[in-house]
Amino acid sequence: MPSPLTPGRNLALELVRTTEAAAMAAARWMGRGDKIAADQAAVDAMRHVLSGVEMDGLVVIGEGEKDEAPMLYNGEHVGDGTSPHVDIAVDPIDGTTLTALGRAGAIAVIAVADRGSMFDPGPCVYMEKIAVGPEAAGIVDLRLPVEKNLMAVARAKGKDVEDVTAVVLDRPRHADLVAEIAAAGARIRSISDGDVAGAIATAWPDSGVDIMFGIGGTPEGVIAAAAMKSMGGDLQGRLWPRDAAEREAAIEAGYDLDAILNCDDLVKTDNCFFAATGITTGDLLRGVTFESDRITTQSLVMRGRSGTVRLIEAFHQPDKYDELDV
Ligand code: FBP
Repeated sequence: MPSPLTPGRNLALELVRTTEAAAMAAARWMGRGDKIAADQAAVDAMRHVLSGVEMDGLVVIGEGEKDEAPMLYNGEHVGDGTSPHVDIAVDPIDGTTLTALGRAGAIAVIAVADRGSMFDPGPCVYMEKIAVGPEAAGIVDLRLPVEKNLMAVARAKGKDVEDVTAVVLDRPRHADLVAEIAAAGARIRSISDGDVAGAIATAWPDSGVDIMFGIGGTPEGVIAAAAMKSMGGDLQGRLWPRDAAEREAAIEAGYDLDAILNCDDLVKTDNCFFAATGITTGDLLRGVTFESDRITTQSLVMRGRSGTVRLIEAFHQPDKYDELDV
């Protein structure tokens, strides 16, 4: 079914209110050591604001199955129930640990696309990823050795491999990857969490990051793909089962574990939207700040069809701000 979205509507400009709300709620928990409370606050706020958005949104990437996630669960319908009919991927906090420990780089994020267009991760929790910005889009390949991809990015960006910076999640599973990047002579930006922001940074001017490698969440890969489509960057993924049981479950469910999934496989339409708001200050976005007379948020708003990327700073009035009407 073609989307009945009118051409001019930028749903992301409405969706950013959901990530602002989630970020403001989560930011109250910054550094207080309680991941669950931070996540709950973000989920509640995002879901509340989503209920007022004109759309029939089906959560395809949410907080989990209904039994374990009473809100924003996979299969839940959100929005006011009117047209357009869309798929929704939410991550009310990408970086729950970062938020709970008061560390840099946590964001609240949402991606929306035509109904039926988003990749369903099913039992596949992780995937191997590679992401680059527009200059290097189309020239890297997850199947190539790390060094070859680093050289390709260097060539595309007109610099030496020694000047290329790769962002990698700091995980024991990446020991070999890190050794290969180091052996190639490139620099490494190690992040403790948050590979949605990591992928976007490769396409963000002056982020200082050229390529992202490594194994991270499949849901995060789908969300990042929506952003990369808007920014003209490239993201490729290959499903990465953790063990034999997960491998079997994936094969049984019909997933091809050898397939390279590109942005068009992860989000099969350009009619997609992305919004993210900083919770804690990071390379990409400033986190929420609270003053007596204003709460400030900084957000990214993107639309796939037009490729528009907006950086939006918003001042919220604390005395008018009500969690129930943000
Ligand atoms: P959460 O905030 O949902 O915990 O995700 C943070 C994150 O770092 C993602 O950005 C990344 O894709 C994933 O976790 C990696 O998973 P793991 O921490 O299990 O290695």
